Amino acid sequence: MSNESNAYWTVRSYPDGEISAANFELLAAPVPEPGQGEVLVKTTHLVVSPPLRMALGTGGIAGKPLPLGSLMRGSGQGRVVASKHADFKEGDLVAGPFGWQQYAVTDGKQPIPLQKVKPFGDLPVTANLHVMGSGGATAFIGLFDYGKPSAGDTVVVSAAAGNVGSIVCQLAKLAGCRVVGIAGSEEKCRWLTGSLGVDGAINYKSEKVSDALGRHCPDGVDVYFDNVGGKTLDAVLDRINFGARVVLCGATSQYEGDSQWYGPSKYFNLVYKQATMQGFYIFNFQSRFPQIFARLQALIEEGKLTYAEDQMQGVGSLPDALVKVLSGANFGTQLVNLDV
Ligand SMILES: NC(=O)c1ccc[n+]([C@@H]2O[C@H](COP(=O)([O-])OP(=O)(O)OC[C@H]3O[C@@H](n4cnc5c(N)ncnc54)[C@H](OP(=O)(O)O)[C@@H]3O)[C@@H](O)[C@H]2O)c1
Repeated sequence: MSNESNAYWTVRSYPDGEISAANFELLAAPVPEPGQGEVLVKTTHLVVSPPLRMALGTGGIAGKPLPLGSLMRGSGQGRVVASKHADFKEGDLVAGPFGWQQYAVTDGKQPIPLQKVKPFGDLPVTANLHVMGSGGATAFIGLFDYGKPSAGDTVVVSAAAGNVGSIVCQLAKLAGCRVVGIAGSEEKCRWLTGSLGVDGAINYKSEKVSDALGRHCPDGVDVYFDNVGGKTLDAVLDRINFGARVVLCGATSQYEGDSQWYGPSKYFNLVYKQATMQGFYIFNFQSRFPQIFARLQALIEEGKLTYAEDQMQGVGSLPDALVKVLSGANFGTQLVNLDV
């Protein structure tokens, strides 16, 4: 270990508006040694997802930004390369909040427990970072517990080609719903209708969502799975049916540099339509993950559920990966492979 160094990214500055790679600084230090009760993990893959933007502040409601000079946060998988911990041995594949760095020392408890990773059947182990991880569970719980879809319902999904959104779209189709996805490119819209079997797709960057919803949802919207918030939420609220369920999962359109979060002006439609709008947080549902993953694995093995991964290579690409995700230039869950 002695000749190697640990490359890591810190927060150099807070963005004024959109984030850029210049908001981060790449530093290096000797690879740390684990103390008694600790393990040293060599990171293999990190997930780069929209809420990471909030680590650098949004002026919004989602907590304080990381102090300048802090290690950038991030979660993923890695391999134990040295262990002084009774529960982990060298070679174990583990998942945890390692931060944007090549090596991490952890006691396995803080800030959240280190978990051993086992692949699901023949799926690549990186599937545990999306469809067989919190993304898949979020889609499942959000759709079924909160969206409560019935066959024949019209379900609208935003960020529909993303990690969570693409799984929601497919589960809603399997539940017999009419599904309309909202995404940010023609390529993503083609994937939704062509490969995922979605009934209609709206490119919110090239057409007005409210007009397109009128065309795609002539009978209104029964379930809206909201990943983006903002004006798209308003456009859907304007079209909800009696008894509709609006599921608040994320607000990606608000993460990037808004000093004030956009509040929905059409919320009063919930009153006329006796509809509900409810948020949920997936980490309160962990006890159900094994059951959900068994179901998702079976669907994948039966060829009824698919997913997309977008991988960038090397620790150096982490800031660019976050910029990419927040511009929508990624296709599938954005991972960075550090094991290169
Ligand atoms: N409630 C929970 O417990 C929970 C758990 C997990 C995730 N979430 C939330 O769920 C949402 C989806 O998460 P994910 O991991 O599946 O991410 P994701 O949808 O895969 O994120 C990437 C996509 O977000 C879209 N996007 C980026 N900037 C946008 C903007 N300004 N407006 C609209 N769309 C934008 C882009 O797609 P386009 O090209 O289509 O714009 C991009 O490809 C996030 O808001 C996340 O915070 C919540």
